[in-house]
This record gives sequence, C-alpha cells and structure tokens, in this order.
Amino acid sequence: MDNRGRTIRLKLTGKLMVVMAAILIFCQLLLSATHLYQSNLQLNKQHKARLDATIKTLAQSIAIDVWNFNPGSLEVLLGPHLTDPGIRKIEIIDAGENRLELPNQTLSGSSQDDAVIEKAIELTLGGQQTSVGQIRIYSSTDYIADELKQIMLRQTGEMVLLILILAAGLSLALSKLVLRPLRKLNAALTAAVNSKDGIVQNPLLGLEDEFEEVAVSISGLSGRLSGDIKTISEAKADLQQEKERTEQALNNLKQTQDALLQSEKQASLGSLVAGVAHEVNTPLGVVITSITCINDMVQQLLQDTEAGTLTKPQLVSQLDKLNEATHLIISNTSRASQLINNFKLLSQEQHGEAQRWFNLSNYIQDVVTSMQEQLNEHQIKLQLQLEPDIIISSMPGLYAQLVSSLLSNVMEHAFPKGQGGNCLLRLALRQNEVCLSCSDQGIGIAPELQKRVFDPFYTTKLGVGSSGLGMAIAYRIVKFNLQGDIQVHSVEQQGTTFDIRIPYHAAQFD
Ligand SMILES: Nc1ncnc2c1ncn2[C@@H]1O[C@H](COP(=O)(O)OP(=O)(O)O)[C@@H](O)[C@H]1O
Ligand SMILES: [Mg+2]
Repeated sequence: MDNRGRTIRLKLTGKLMVVMAAILIFCQLLLSATHLYQSNLQLNKQHKARLDATIKTLAQSIAIDVWNFNPGSLEVLLGPHLTDPGIRKIEIIDAGENRLELPNQTLSGSSQDDAVIEKAIELTLGGQQTSVGQIRIYSSTDYIADELKQIMLRQTGEMVLLILILAAGLSLALSKLVLRPLRKLNAALTAAVNSKDGIVQNPLLGLEDEFEEVAVSISGLSGRLSGDIKTISEAKADLQQEKERTEQALNNLKQTQDALLQSEKQASLGSLVAGVAHEVNTPLGVVITSITCINDMVQQLLQDTEAGTLTKPQLVSQLDKLNEATHLIISNTSRASQLINNFKLLSQEQHGEAQRWFNLSNYIQDVVTSMQEQLNEHQIKLQLQLEPDIIISSMPGLYAQLVSSLLSNVMEHAFPKGQGGNCLLRLALRQNEVCLSCSDQGIGIAPELQKRVFDPFYTTKLGVGSSGLGMAIAYRIVKFNLQGDIQVHSVEQQGTTFDIRIPYHAAQFD
C-alpha cells in the first residue's frame, strides 16, 4: 500500500476509534456513575443494618459479662463483630469505670484514627433500670469509599479492554471491508488516469455490496466522460483547422484589400494626372500660339523698319497686338503654374499629409477644374454652389479624395452608359458644420442596396474597373479622419444625394 493509502487508513481508523472511544467512555462513565451511586447507597444501607444488628445482639448478650467485667469472655464474645470493616473499635466501660478497648485488628492501624461515629449503648441486666455499664461502638464508612474505588478501577480496566478489543476488531473490519475495496478502486482509477482511453475497469466485480455499486457507477461515468472528451478533442481539432483556414482566408482578404486599395489609389491618381495634363496643355497651347504670333509680328516690324515703310499707326497697332499676346502669355502661364501647384497638393499622400490652413472653397473649385475634362467626356453638366472663402486648417488631400470619389461615381454609376445628366455640388458652412453634398439626377440606388454603398468591396460594376472601395474610403475619411457623418439619400430613377457633414471644430485640426 502506498503512503497515501496508509494515511487514509490511519485517518479513517483513527477517526472511527476516536468516535467509538468517545461513545464508549461516555456510556461507561454514565453506567459507572449509576452503578457507583447505587453501590454507595447499598453499601451504606448494609453498613447501617449490620451496625444495628451488632448493637442489638451485643446489648442483649454481653450485659452479664460486663457486670462481671470478664475481659477474656468479653473478647471472645466481641471477636466476631470486630471483623466487620465498618466497626473500628468497641469500647466497654463497666459501672466501676473499668475500661476495655478492642480495636478491629483486620483494619490497618492508621485508618483506626480516622473520624468515626460513636454509638454508646447503656447496658442493663434483664428487666432492671440500673446500668451495668456502657458499650461504645466506633464505626466508619471509609471502607465503602475504598470498595467504591475498587469497583471503579475494575470498571475502568474493563472499559480499556473493551476499547482495545473494539479497536482491533474495527481496524480489521475496516481494512477488509472498506480499505481493500477502496485501494482496488484507487488503483483502477490511477491506471485509468495513465491509460489512453481513460476508462476505469471495474475492479470490484462480484463484491455485491455498495462499493461494487460505486465502482460500476464510476466505470460508467468514466466511459461517458471518455466519450465526451473524445468528442471535445475532435471538435477542438476541427476548430483548430477551421481557425487556420479562417486565418488564411483573412490573410488573403487583407492582401486583396491592400492590392485593391493600391489600385484604387493609382486609378484616382491616374484620373487626376489626366485632368491636370489636359488643363495644363490648354494654357500651354495658348502660350505657344501667342509666342508664335509675337515672333511673326516682331519679324514683320523688323522688315518694315528696314524697308522704311513702317508708319506710326502700323507701329501702334502692332504694339497693341504684342501687348495683348503678352497678357495672354502671362495669364496662361500663371494658370498653368497654379494648376501644377494644385496637382502637387492633390498628389500628396493622404495620411502623412501635413495639416495646413487653406481655402476649402477654392480648393474644391480646383479639384473640380482638374476633373472637368472627364466630366465633359461623360456629358455631366456640373453645377457648383460653393460658399466662398470657407477657411479651415486641415489636410486638403482628404477633401480632394472625397470630391473625386463623389464625382467619379456620378460619372460611372449615375447615368446609363453614353448618356449624361445634371449634377449639383454644394459647399456651405451651417451651424458650425461644413456641409458638402453631391446630388445627381441619375438612376438612383435601390433602397435595399443603399445601406451597402459604404461597405468595402461593394460594387455594381465588378470586373469593369470598379473595386467597390471608393465610398468605403470616403466613409472612413469622414467618420474617422474628420469625425463627421456621411449619408446617402436616393430615389430610383430620380437621383442620388450624398450628404457629408463635418463639425467645424473637427475641420480645424489644431
Ligand atoms: N451617384 C450614384 N448613383 C448610383 N449608384 C451609385 C452612385 N454612387 C455610388 N453608387 C453605387 O454604390 C456602389 C459603390 O460605390 P463605390 O464604393 O464608389 O465603388 P465603385 O465605384 O468602385 O463601384 C457603386 O458600385 C454603385 O452601385
Ligand atoms: Mg466609385
């Protein structure tokens, strides 16, 4: 048996012993007390009866010997009474004050000096009143205490013996009936813990007692638990696999999202480049034409001067034309320069972009200008209602992205291919809110699809260059970068409005 088993046995046996001993001692003490009490009563009663009998006997039998005061015959007469442990001493005093003391020889000397009860009886001769002497009996109940002590000792001995016998019997019974099956059960449980399937083999088959029932239950339970654990393990393995698959799918999705974001950025940059290139090309064309004109006019002036045919009105007219051409060159180069500046601003990275004070009204005007060529291509008649000089401190690129996404959608989705239509872009500052809205009179969006417009990857033109990220990006810019709100209102066959509201204080990135 291992140490643990031994501890259990000691614990169980010990506890049972203590309980049994306590019960036994209690019962024994109760019984002893009753027994001692009764013995005490009985012994005292017997003592009194014996004493009375002795007094009675002596009072009748020894008067004559006292009268004669014959110590020899008195000793013989009193001798038997002196073996009574309750009588300490008998004293005889006759009428002549002769005294005879007879101690109880059977008692130890010292106890004879103890406190005693004296009984004095006047002795008379048959029928006479005159006393012939006195007999004094010294009695004591000390011996009763001794007897009671003996009884108690005997009972204690019996009790100890009983407890020892009971302890041995109990220990034996416990070991055989309880601890042995428990040990077997424990061994079976340990074996099950170390086994693969965890099933407890019933070690108490045929015992046909409560332990066997417990073992059967444990065995059944272990079987069920083992089954459950197996199912859980399988489910866990499945879950692990599922998790790995989901992680893989998520990774793929992220990669796809990154790729699409990249392509969306490139697409919007591409359209901006195309717009700006066109816008720069126009003033450049004007400048080249003007310079060619100036060159022609200067050549003409030189020829006329050399030939001496130049008249004053001719000179004035040529100089006027030269002045006009120079102005054209100046205005067109500054327009081109402005466009290039805007282009630089638009092409800046949104997130990393520096915050600065700028005129939002003018900026949106510039973005629209850069897209004008594309709008024309799609036959979009864009009407602008921009409240002038709304000055904010923010990142302009965010607003460029918003306007470009809104207008791109009008071009791509609002009207059937090949057809154009009307669109209104509004900017206003109302009650501490910057309001930007884009309304078209196009085909609209079905009610059930409106809530999906801001979902990433939601597009109705999949496979034809749309990624479904435009409004998702716009939503993030408005919600997270500018802490505003964006909503879509649309009626089919009537048109769509995107409403953006940005708190003015949030528009100020202090
Ligand atoms: N002005 C609009 N008119 C009609 N439908 C629109 C308009 N703007 C957006 N949509 C719808 O919302 C969808 C999501 O737009 P967006 O996120 O920009 O993705 P994408 O333009 O790549 O399709 C579009 O595919 C289109 O169905
Ligand atoms: Mg779009």
